Amino acid sequence: MERTFIAIKPDAVQRGLIGQIIERFERKGFKIIALKMMQSTRELAEKHYEEHKGRDYFERLVEFIVSGPIVAMVIEGDNAVAVARRMMGSTKPQEAEVGTIRFDLAQVKEMNIIHGSDSANNAKREIGVFFSEAELIDWEHNAERWLYEK
Ligand code: CDP
Ligand code: MG
Repeated sequence: MERTFIAIKPDAVQRGLIGQIIERFERKGFKIIALKMMQSTRELAEKHYEEHKGRDYFERLVEFIVSGPIVAMVIEGDNAVAVARRMMGSTKPQEAEVGTIRFDLAQVKEMNIIHGSDSANNAKREIGVFFSEAELIDWEHNAERWLYEK
């Protein structure tokens, strides 16, 4: 099973969408490995988005991420990185597939309500930025036998 890092961004927290977003991942059958509400520091936000350093939107993006609390989570499932990205939809919510989280709940790329890792390597890195090893809970997800073929 693969793990991916998801963050519910400050706009979604302010708009009361935390529950709806988490619910979608639960309903799909993902196992939640870690979950916390937190106020990101500048340092953490810059580290998380380090690939974007130098882009014209970088400063605005970091300001946005630290503008209020976020909900950070790690979810696990078969092909979790790609499946979670499909569920989120593309960066520009108006152009995302109908039915995705971003299409259904957001309007513009500057406030697109959710982050999800884009590769297994980035997932590992981002999980390490936001969570300590002790915060990752390895529990038995009994629903898995009803979700995946052996
Ligand atoms: O989040 P995603 O992986 O879909 O997009 P990204 O290209 O990795 O960009 C990271 C985040 O930066 C996006 O989710 C947007 O919130 C923001 N961004 C922006 O505000 N303006 C851009 N031109 C590109 C990205
Ligand atoms: Mg990205």
